[in-house]
Amino acid sequence: MKRDVRILLLGEAQVGKTSLILSLVGEEFPAEVPPRAEEITIPADVTPEKVPTHIVDYSEAEQTAEELQEEIDKANVVCVVYDVSEEATIEKIRTKWIPLVNGGTERGPRVPIILVGNKSDLRAGSSMEAVLPIMSQFPEIETCVECSAKNLRNISELFYYAQKAVLHPTAPLYDPEAKQLRPACVQALTRIFRLSDQDLDQALSDEELNAFQKSCFGHPLAPQALEDVKTVVCKNVAGGVREDRLTLDGFLFLNTLFIQRGRHETTWTILRRFGYGDTLELTLDYLAPPLHVPPGCSTELNHFGYQFVQRVFEKHDQDHDGSLSPVELDSFFSVFPAAPWGSQLPLEVPTEAGRLPLHGYLCQWTLVTYLDVRRCLEHLGYLGYPTLCERDSQAHAITVTREKRLDQEKGQTQRNVLLCKVVGARGVGKSAFLQAFLGRRLGRQDRRESPEEPAVYAINTVQVNGQEKYLILCEVSADSLLAAAPDAACDVACLMFDGSDPGSFAFCASVYKRHYMDGQTPCLFVSSKADLPEGISPPGLSPAEFCRRHRLPAPAPFSASPAKLSTAVFTRLAAMATFPHLAHGELHSTSFWLRVTLGVIGAAVTAVLSFSLYRALVKTR
Ligand code: GTP
Ligand code: MG
Repeated sequence: MKRDVRILLLGEAQVGKTSLILSLVGEEFPAEVPPRAEEITIPADVTPEKVPTHIVDYSEAEQTAEELQEEIDKANVVCVVYDVSEEATIEKIRTKWIPLVNGGTERGPRVPIILVGNKSDLRAGSSMEAVLPIMSQFPEIETCVECSAKNLRNISELFYYAQKAVLHPTAPLYDPEAKQLRPACVQALTRIFRLSDQDLDQALSDEELNAFQKSCFGHPLAPQALEDVKTVVCKNVAGGVREDRLTLDGFLFLNTLFIQRGRHETTWTILRRFGYGDTLELTLDYLAPPLHVPPGCSTELNHFGYQFVQRVFEKHDQDHDGSLSPVELDSFFSVFPAAPWGSQLPLEVPTEAGRLPLHGYLCQWTLVTYLDVRRCLEHLGYLGYPTLCERDSQAHAITVTREKRLDQEKGQTQRNVLLCKVVGARGVGKSAFLQAFLGRRLGRQDRRESPEEPAVYAINTVQVNGQEKYLILCEVSADSLLAAAPDAACDVACLMFDGSDPGSFAFCASVYKRHYMDGQTPCLFVSSKADLPEGISPPGLSPAEFCRRHRLPAPAPFSASPAKLSTAVFTRLAAMATFPHLAHGELHSTSFWLRVTLGVIGAAVTAVLSFSLYRALVKTR
């Protein structure tokens, strides 16, 4: 976040630029000065804002116009120095120096300027009268300061103001001509207000204000300070305080006041704590914190993550009916730049009559975290996770699971979210299978809820050995598995064929042979449309025979029709994904134990034999 600050001193000859720099460094007025001081770097720890600071001098005698322009381009802030005892040097600020610094840029970012009146020891009064009109003409002038290199007056202050102008610039926040906050600043502060308004009553209670204060500044407000704040707001803004709570108008007024009083670093602290950068947009550092996910690992929300998103849900479930209505969902979306979840949502997670219940909401978070953890981090960022949970980043809400290879070695997984690919030829009933998983029966889909594109994913929970697991079904189209390098990886494969049309089995069988036969992924063949009469198998291996030969469990019948719908197959898939070594059915596990037993007997026999052999050898000697 913190970067170097480069301060350039400009101004007419002999105004004291070089003397100011040398006075700062040597802490005494130099009797003799060179035309130009060497560039100096002040280490971060000795500057007030703790950033490395470079101070650069300029001398007309030593530098060309091109060199001057180069230095201006590199500077983060320019101090235009004048001599308080020489009116002519003041006039040049307007006619020469400011146009030189910011003349090239019509609109857009301007370099902040500090006006520095040097040699205050030579003048009794102040030069303010001459300087104020210039300040109101050029909004990029952050402030002005009178000082003396000779008396060492205001020297460190001058460099502090320069640093502050770079680190906490006023320009992006405040329009000095209109005397109000700029729109981008209002927008950012409004989002911060919404996030801090935990009960969504459009006002901040004492408790909410204190939590806000604590997350931004590390400590709550003293009770008296809290009352003082509300009193000031009350006096100045109609409707700024309502029922002893601070409204959005009041909150915006407070920030305007900070800035007008030169305390804009306070507003910057608030904005930065909530992730905003210099351009008042959420920074990449904030939205995309580093999270290392090695190959073969998956991503899940952990306990903290679920707790946080559930709290957000409860905040927006204003009627406390345990689900979000479309209006409540919009209110949830309001702190995002665009709706985070699209029209696919109702097809991917369990919903109830057009509302999103907590269960479906948690399913959706789980799905996004698993499929696209970057997007999940971004979403948690928009919801203010790092600030509201007082954590370094929202990566704190994510668990990266151990490598799948290790799961396979141990024959068990610690994952709570499992992926099942549902593979099958066109029309075998994959989409109906996905929808049945969400509790939707064939022919009873709500028209409004089903856009043209069928969902690729469906997620729900399943009990495995008394433990709740999330199972993601992913529909894989027939064509995509024939592509050059298809991604067939998953925790369990569901190979679906149409039981009423056994001809569709051939495709499944070839996918199995091509992608799963030699791997470790457990596979289950599912014979769909079990409510229809069984079709006649073409010549060759029947599905049941094929499974027997490949030591696979027999095909599981499934029907999505209301009368025959059974969810047993989903539980079975989840169990196979959780305990992959048991997945090949009893036959396989018996042979496993048989092998172990034979191995032990074998070892014992060898030991006995070699002992007898040894005795035999000894005897012959
Ligand atoms: P150029 O390098 O020619 O652009 O000038 P400069 O802006 O670097 O000025 P410099 O520091 O060389 O100072 C010019 C003269 O003003 C020197 O004689 C300094 O001693 C004197 N001077 C600088 N600062 C002060 C001050 O605060 N008070 C008084 N009385 N004299 C000062
Ligand atoms: Mg000089």
